[in-house]
Amino acid sequence: MSPSATPTGSTPETTTPRFGKHLLSLRDLSADTITALLNTADGFLEIGTRTVKKVPALRGKTVVNLFFEPSTRTRTSFELAAKRLSADVLNITVAASSVVKGETLTDTARTIEAMNTDTVVIRHAAAGAPQLLAETLNSHVINAGDGAHEHPTQGLLDLFTIRRAKGRIEGLNVVIVGDITHSRVARSGLIGLTKLGAHVRLVAPPTMIPSGIEKLSEGPGDVTVGYDLDAALKGADVIMPLRLQLERQGAPLFPGKREYATLYGINRERMAAAAEGAIVMHPGPINRGVEIAHDVADSDQSTILSQVTHGVAVRMAVLYHYSAGQGAAA
Ligand code: CP
Repeated sequence: MSPSATPTGSTPETTTPRFGKHLLSLRDLSADTITALLNTADGFLEIGTRTVKKVPALRGKTVVNLFFEPSTRTRTSFELAAKRLSADVLNITVAASSVVKGETLTDTARTIEAMNTDTVVIRHAAAGAPQLLAETLNSHVINAGDGAHEHPTQGLLDLFTIRRAKGRIEGLNVVIVGDITHSRVARSGLIGLTKLGAHVRLVAPPTMIPSGIEKLSEGPGDVTVGYDLDAALKGADVIMPLRLQLERQGAPLFPGKREYATLYGINRERMAAAAEGAIVMHPGPINRGVEIAHDVADSDQSTILSQVTHGVAVRMAVLYHYSAGQGAAA
């Protein structure tokens, strides 16, 4: 682990980064490879502020967005990221595709790849769908969220946002609170944060924490699991409430939204227990007044919109490393 990083600058890597051909899970990346991706994103962030927001890095490459689940942030930021790198982008609207006629995932993907695509970005309700495509296609495959398994680019953009806000990841106390059972964001976050040396505190009602979740932790960081949010918030540097995923819960896991907000919602009073300069993050979309109060979501401590801005730069870095050939070569 590198001990230092400037608030907006890059952290040196200590070993050669190895990206692999596909980005399916943050488990597959070493701390140094994650750091290398964040460093590349640092370089790409400025492009979004230019009058002409385009560089030729992926000219001639074709990126496919194949989203089987709704998305605002991830799909549009992958599209913008690819366009800012001068790639051609194909957005497949599943509801208007032959999937509705019964075509399978792999036949759909093979059909699209037959048009000579280079990288497929996939979101799917089934955990493991990106893995299946990686075993089926010649293209690079990027996981844009699969069921409750992982959302690696969200994990990367959250790490990037923390590093820019706090200057480091190592040694920070990070509270992740909410519907951890259904959260691919929490899983990728937990893996990435602990690999980079953070102390993660997972907090939720007992019905929303899967047993054994702490086994996902990878050193040098660590994880604790608890049910008491006020205890976990003491001295927290980063607070990350998660969306209540009612659409995935089936039978309710909590009596109601009001009770949830009372016990697990992030509000001004609770934020007072956090460390000085603490930030509050949220992957979005947010349920205002449930997992996060309006005034906290819109406060100076909130990084919610910065996360969206950073998402474009981080996905540019991911597409660059997984479309320009470095992924296959590493
Ligand atoms: N954070 C996230 O994945 O948001 P979207 O569902 O809007 O892509």
